Amino acid sequence: MKYTRPRGTQDLFGDSMVRWRWVEDKLARLAASYGYSEIRTPIFEMSDLFIRTVGEATDIVTKEMYAFKDRKGRDLTLRPENTAPVMRAFIENGLQRSGGVSRFFYIGPMFRYDRPQAGRYRQFHQFGAEAIGSDNPAVDAEIIDMSLKIYRTFEFQGLEIRLNSVGCPACRPAYRQILGSSLENLKGELCDDCAQRYAVNPMRIFDCKECGPVKARLPVMTDHLCADCSEHFASLQRILREMGISFVHDPLLVRGLDYYTRTAFEILHPGLGGQNALCGGGRYDGLAEDCGAGRVPAIGFSAGIERLLENIPDKAVVGIDFSKADIFFVVPQKEGYARAMNLASQLRDRGMRVEVDLSGRAIKKQIKAASESGASHAVFTGIEELRENAAAVKNLGSGEQCRVPFADLAAFLEKERE
Ligand code: HAM
Repeated sequence: MKYTRPRGTQDLFGDSMVRWRWVEDKLARLAASYGYSEIRTPIFEMSDLFIRTVGEATDIVTKEMYAFKDRKGRDLTLRPENTAPVMRAFIENGLQRSGGVSRFFYIGPMFRYDRPQAGRYRQFHQFGAEAIGSDNPAVDAEIIDMSLKIYRTFEFQGLEIRLNSVGCPACRPAYRQILGSSLENLKGELCDDCAQRYAVNPMRIFDCKECGPVKARLPVMTDHLCADCSEHFASLQRILREMGISFVHDPLLVRGLDYYTRTAFEILHPGLGGQNALCGGGRYDGLAEDCGAGRVPAIGFSAGIERLLENIPDKAVVGIDFSKADIFFVVPQKEGYARAMNLASQLRDRGMRVEVDLSGRAIKKQIKAASESGASHAVFTGIEELRENAAAVKNLGSGEQCRVPFADLAAFLEKERE
């Protein structure tokens, strides 16, 4: 084998692809039930969009971007996430509804050059939602409720919502200074990465998997929120409690992207070890300004589809149709191809999924393939059927067989399948 797929990517096919479609359809319906409409943005964007918004000192920008130059020397990047692209598209296309909240959802591939392991890929997929245009904490609650609903839909149990507030440009600078001074004193205990980056963004230390013991001794943002952020965080918690949504306030939660303001949250699956975040999100009230527009408050989340699919409880996987066809044509001799294809076309026009066996293999093998396709009926167009102008039709469930004139076949099968 000369070529293999790039590390950290997957080929999807067969039953596994059917499961993907099933999940994606359910997610799209879930988003629609909350009034979110679909948005698709390019898979690559100008690199600067991510550098300026996700943040220069983040792992995503410093280590994980698939960045390249095109033939004109432009710096482009395969999107590592989709919040900045959605905000870019929102501004560029003038999608702001006057006074209202604009709601978008997306499903698609993202790219991060990270060490592949269980639940972590270099090309992975996210389902996400973004509510743009309001700083009302009720919108935060809607986003959290919707993200939780995903896992309820698929009958996950024992999930934990971790919630925090990461402040805003009014209160964060003072807190950063306090945090910076604490880190200065603990410098000797930081990992190499954190020792380098704490001066650029001290809050990144909370992201670090190695600096756990130091983290526990640091001052936390929620003790230093300004009055507005404090009120916003308290209101959100009140609304969530009223909605019956339980959560844990985790003062060490910061998320790995710099654009967040105020609300930050994650949904964790306790059984998953290192890659236990099923979903993450938060508020990004300053992102529109980072993109060169006015102030447009917004909040959203993204859920990893691989992590969702890999952990769906078996009992939730019901009602998936793995069949490939409704009707299967068995064609024992080549004389029967044209008639089979003509009839198949008529059946497709009536909405049936039809496979015609064009392999020329032995009739026994064709019949076996018919059963495996999941079709309800096999239709035979052999020489004898051509002579009589009528197909042999076998009900693959009951085994009953009968003759149906070609002219009546579509109506007959339609009735049978009612
Ligand atoms: P994120 O936390 O970087 O946030 O990613 C969200 C989710 O994507 C993670 O919780 C995880 O399920 C999945 N994910 C991330 N990286 C990988 C990977 N390498 N392999 C498999 N799954 C992965 C964001 O991307 C933000 N844009 C979320 C957001 C939306 N914030 C506001 N709006």
